[in-house]
Amino acid sequence: MKHFSQNEIAQLEHLYKINLINSCSGFKSANLIGSKSMDGISNVAVFSSVTHFGSSPAILGFLMRPTSVPRNTYSNIRETGSYTINHIHSEIIEDAHHTSAKYDKKISEFDMTKLREEYKEHYDAPFVKGAPVQIGMRYLEEYKIRANGTIMLIGEVMDIFIKDDLLRPDGFVDLSKGNVAAINGLDGYVVPDLPKRMPYQRPKKIHKRYKNFENMDLI
Ligand SMILES: Cc1cc2nc3c(=O)[nH]c(=O)nc-3n(C[C@H](O)[C@H](O)[C@H](O)COP(=O)(O)O)c2cc1C
Repeated sequence: MKHFSQNEIAQLEHLYKINLINSCSGFKSANLIGSKSMDGISNVAVFSSVTHFGSSPAILGFLMRPTSVPRNTYSNIRETGSYTINHIHSEIIEDAHHTSAKYDKKISEFDMTKLREEYKEHYDAPFVKGAPVQIGMRYLEEYKIRANGTIMLIGEVMDIFIKDDLLRPDGFVDLSKGNVAAINGLDGYVVPDLPKRMPYQRPKKIHKRYKNFENMDLI
């Protein structure tokens, strides 16, 4: 197996290092975050760090790169408190990826790609039209990560819109039915197939070490 020590990682060439560290944690969610400035300019950008923080109340968070350079999504969310999370699916991968380009705040990525804005009642922020899952969010709080200046941004889920055929009777959202993508690293996109659902797990009664022996005590 190839081994990288902390020292070796620190000395890697920049692009190699960001590819390695961005890939090694596993597949990540692939989302487009929609927002709008107070001046009415819409914005959409790809994010791979949206994570579930709790279900009651329903909270999602994501990690924002340091704001040492303009971050339009961040400033829009702080100005308006409102944003949307939209799932990237197989048909929009190229355009979704292009939203990572650093456009000026006055330019909407919707005007530079085939992605289309969709507006819903109560939301100034745009949703991405056709996304199989669209989530309306409201800013709650943020935490600065002192180690590297990134910002953990926490928001409450206000509305969820899901294409009918993805939603199972028990609330499970079958993302593969919507050809929803996941991200490998910084530029690898996969469209996973067929989720393997597992039953709720309870502790086993017999320890693995004793399983070949008869009459062992239950632990
Ligand atoms: C696959 C991928 C995932 C990304 N994930 C994040 C992320 O989780 N957090 C972040 O701050 N930037 C992320 N970015 C970078 C933003 O998309 C990029 O900074 C973009 O220009 C932000 O646009 P904005 O200034 O309009 O908000 C990602 C880029 C790519 C290509």
